[in-house]
Amino acid sequence: MSQEISSGLSESRVFPPSEAFLRGCGDRPHVASLDEYRALWTRSIQDPEGFWGEVARGFDWFTPFTSVLDWQCPDARWFDGGTLNACHNCVDRQVNAGHGDEVAIIWEGEPGWPSDASSAYAAAFSSSDRALSARHGHAVRHLTYRHLQEETARLANALRSLGVRKGDVVTLYMGMVPELAIAVLACARIGAAHSVIFGGFAAPAIIDRVADAQSRVIITCDGAWRRGAIVPLKANVDEACTGAPSVEHVIVLRRTGHDVPMRAGRDHWWHELVASQPSTCACEPMASEDLLFLLYTSGSTGKPKGIRHTTAGYSIFTAFTARMTFDLHPGTEQVYFCTADIGWITGHSYIVYGLLPNRVPTLMYEGAPNAPAEDRFWSIVERHRVTHFYTAPTAIRAFMKWGDAHPAKHDLSSLRLLGTVGEPINPEAWMWYHRTIGGERCPIVDTMWQTETGGHIITPLPGATPTVPGSCTLPMFGIDAAIVNERGEELPANAGGLLVIRKPWPAMLRGIHGDRQRFIDTYWSKVPGMYVAGDGARRDERGYFWIMGRIDDVINVSGHRLGTMEVESALVAHEAVVEAAVVGMPHEIKGTGIAAFVTLGPGHTGRAGDALRKELQEHVAHEIGAIAKPDMIRFTQALPKTRSGKIMRRLLRDIAAGNEVRQDTTTLEDFTVLAKLRETEE
Ligand code: WT7
Repeated sequence: MSQEISSGLSESRVFPPSEAFLRGCGDRPHVASLDEYRALWTRSIQDPEGFWGEVARGFDWFTPFTSVLDWQCPDARWFDGGTLNACHNCVDRQVNAGHGDEVAIIWEGEPGWPSDASSAYAAAFSSSDRALSARHGHAVRHLTYRHLQEETARLANALRSLGVRKGDVVTLYMGMVPELAIAVLACARIGAAHSVIFGGFAAPAIIDRVADAQSRVIITCDGAWRRGAIVPLKANVDEACTGAPSVEHVIVLRRTGHDVPMRAGRDHWWHELVASQPSTCACEPMASEDLLFLLYTSGSTGKPKGIRHTTAGYSIFTAFTARMTFDLHPGTEQVYFCTADIGWITGHSYIVYGLLPNRVPTLMYEGAPNAPAEDRFWSIVERHRVTHFYTAPTAIRAFMKWGDAHPAKHDLSSLRLLGTVGEPINPEAWMWYHRTIGGERCPIVDTMWQTETGGHIITPLPGATPTVPGSCTLPMFGIDAAIVNERGEELPANAGGLLVIRKPWPAMLRGIHGDRQRFIDTYWSKVPGMYVAGDGARRDERGYFWIMGRIDDVINVSGHRLGTMEVESALVAHEAVVEAAVVGMPHEIKGTGIAAFVTLGPGHTGRAGDALRKELQEHVAHEIGAIAKPDMIRFTQALPKTRSGKIMRRLLRDIAAGNEVRQDTTTLEDFTVLAKLRETEE
């Protein structure tokens, strides 16, 4: 196990669903007691077809499905025979039911108003949003379902005019503006799969993903605002295009208004392209198992994998789990704010696809949590009367460090429910969140899931599950989660083992794009017949799950998933570096930081020192993105290897963490290496 959970075993505080939460539920929460949860969960496991068939019938279908599940491990087909459209269920369905004028998306831009008033983007604001922005001093937009319908239709038509057809992959590399959600939905509307690349990734990362998906169209922005500066998205795309010959068209949204070169024939301004397009476009009927999107994520090798999610299972599971986990009720003044970026699965599932079908407004924020000041999120909560707030433990630890004065300045009384996702939350951060943000009245849902699972797999339900700080508690409906050993045998309470899921669920990944073998090897071979999540975990005596951390070469840096091999490849691409080994190390804010052990080439050994360290950090940022910058770089003459030549990562992890080396080192090839690694360098 790469991480040990510090206080799991000793944690005994239990928080039942708060009275305040239950009182505020209107009628009642969707699931109102632990008994109700258990009964429903048992049914979902014993009769998955009955259970999911019922859930799926709550969606709009063009043609009804004829079978619920066809499972030939590892291949699942859900809701076969049916046709539907994900955009329709997010948008058109609400308009058709008479809710077209309700708010679907609330958006806040990073720079304050009136700086946006002077920018090219101001034309996108309605007159009432302009007035509101002027009053708040923040750029604010409200997009109704009708507005979303018209804008997705226009962009969908524009994409078709560029030759995009059902089954094509469109790459989106944008900042957190409503047009990113519009682009996602426009792709779904015409049956093109989207592949969203997080705006923090650098050009080489775009090249890898565009090439793997054979994407011909990229949608981007002239730039994105972050801490008052402009992230040069279009410039990164230009750089990427030189290495990605499949790209024929680039659509550019004018967000910041700064000058960007436009290449004739290839580049098109979004506003010009959509201006002449009709604002209607029928939703393409998609088969249940048609690809909805690819999302690239890190694995054990240097090459990111394109996780495949399909139309029906993914949409239905995300809408259902959002409704259960966040206890969503349309038309009840709920306002939901998830701080993730749509570039990650959290944003896909729990900003867009899970929220819109539930008809609860979803709030998108463009920038950094500390811009212009460390109270930005709390000011957003106050301004928009946010009821649901969903963020990552790393953010919570940063808020703690910034101090209680920031939340104290704001009225947070609208909050009813808090959520966390991305990494294990330490009980101290959980308690701070509970007290300082939640006023001790908001249930905390610690949601465990992955890019591959599409939606929540283990999480409390706010009206039913007593919570324990640091535990993600109990499995979602339909999720047969267990802790097993490598033979697939379930382990007794509190024994650490592999987290697996023993039955298929609707939003499970359908494969890795273009790599069947890797799909089988990664998820289905370690324990035959079971989905292996890649996390170590244990279950306590009440059946609650405790996630201990990744058991592969994946690290979770500030809730962002990175492969250690990716960082190693970036490092060895630098002229001075011969060999590099990257491991995770404990980090106060990030949860896991990046430690790199580097050996230098013969002509470069004299350069070991801070200047080169900085250069290597910048180099990694340029190759992958700033999120991958090593926190610690140690120059060494050799890396510890076994006699068969394998780098002993566990030993490096101990050294990086400042621990005594626990490992049996008898297989170490050269004992002097260990001594050298321990020496303080230079
Ligand atoms: C890995 C998946 C799912 C959205 C964000 C990350 C870790 C995620 C939790 C949690 C403990 C968690 C796991 C998992 N993880 N949520 N609540 N408690 N660990 O998605 O990038 O696919 O990463 O994040 O290690 O395997 P991802």
